[in-house]
Amino acid sequence: MSAIPAARHPASDLQAIQTLIAPDMAAMDALIRRRLASDVALVNQIAEYIIGAGGKRLRPMLLLLAAAALGHRGADAHQLAAVVEFIHTSTLLHDDVVDESDLRRGRRTANAVWGNAASVLVGDFLYSRSFQLMVELDRMDVQKLLADTTNRIAEGEVLQLLHVRNPDTDEAAYLRVIERKTAILFAAATELGALLAGADTAVRQALRAYGLALGHAFQIADDVLDYAADAATLGKNLGDDLAEGKMTLPLIHAMQQADAATCAQLRRIIEQGDRDGMPVVQAAIARAGSLDYSRTQALAFAQAAEDALAALPGNAYTDALRGLARYAVSRDH
Ligand code: IPE
Ligand code: IPE
Ligand code: MG
Ligand code: MG
Repeated sequence: MSAIPAARHPASDLQAIQTLIAPDMAAMDALIRRRLASDVALVNQIAEYIIGAGGKRLRPMLLLLAAAALGHRGADAHQLAAVVEFIHTSTLLHDDVVDESDLRRGRRTANAVWGNAASVLVGDFLYSRSFQLMVELDRMDVQKLLADTTNRIAEGEVLQLLHVRNPDTDEAAYLRVIERKTAILFAAATELGALLAGADTAVRQALRAYGLALGHAFQIADDVLDYAADAATLGKNLGDDLAEGKMTLPLIHAMQQADAATCAQLRRIIEQGDRDGMPVVQAAIARAGSLDYSRTQALAFAQAAEDALAALPGNAYTDALRGLARYAVSRDH
């Protein structure tokens, strides 16, 4: 045996976390399958197509782990975990239409296969199905949290639209967008875990802070992967963000660091929003060290997430939440 300790492998960390919570995830998945059903064939077909493609199921995992860390497990957690995954999946169906993406979870996107109209409408089906599942629990605190959450996500997507092809978008504006479009749902997932467990305000706030910081880290990592991943591993196309004219952190940083001539060139590329400018953008990003800069920002959010967990009881589930914070910034898909 080598004297050098094995490097931490992020994928196996995720596997260990999945194993820890596997029975609850299986119950949640069974519930998802049962509740996808509709008597409209196309709804079933598309919903099954995207849900069946897998996905990391990170948000339900967060909810289940947060509840379990506080000693709560059960049918209500499975149900809310399914709600969160349905909301997430509906936003993906809509997002791929807006972003004109054609690859998701290693498959052609629903919009590529069935067209934009069907994707948007089935996204609406999943969204409203999530409300049906939610109200069954008959808890006003849960309903209020999820109503606020979905409203903020919608605002985030619109806010992002306002910055498309705008080369003057700065880091603060970017952070405002990712907080709403991504981090708010992570925060809701972990806060829901606290609500189900009947946690006191301090613990509830700590879990919300954890989810919010983790969501930031996760989206920044996603935006780095859009420039730096292997498409087959990622299961999504690279370069979608630039093609869409989306101002993400690597590009914002490269713009700030670029000399006047490059900056003018980048401006034109962003305003046109197509893939042809990719080599110029990649070169500017490499020169400015923008991927490393972005990774460092993601790490800081992941660290803040871990720090928030100090308020939780020490157990395997809290450790798993810590592991997920590390996974979010070291993942390759
Ligand atoms: C994709 O989320 C959307 C972002 C917030 C970046 P995930 O990367 O969690 O997607 P799946 O569910 O695993 O496919
Ligand atoms: C996340 O942004 C979108 C949602 C929160 C739905 P992206 O547009 O970067 O997500 P991907 O890369 O398509 O998964
Ligand atoms: Mg997208
Ligand atoms: Mg992305």
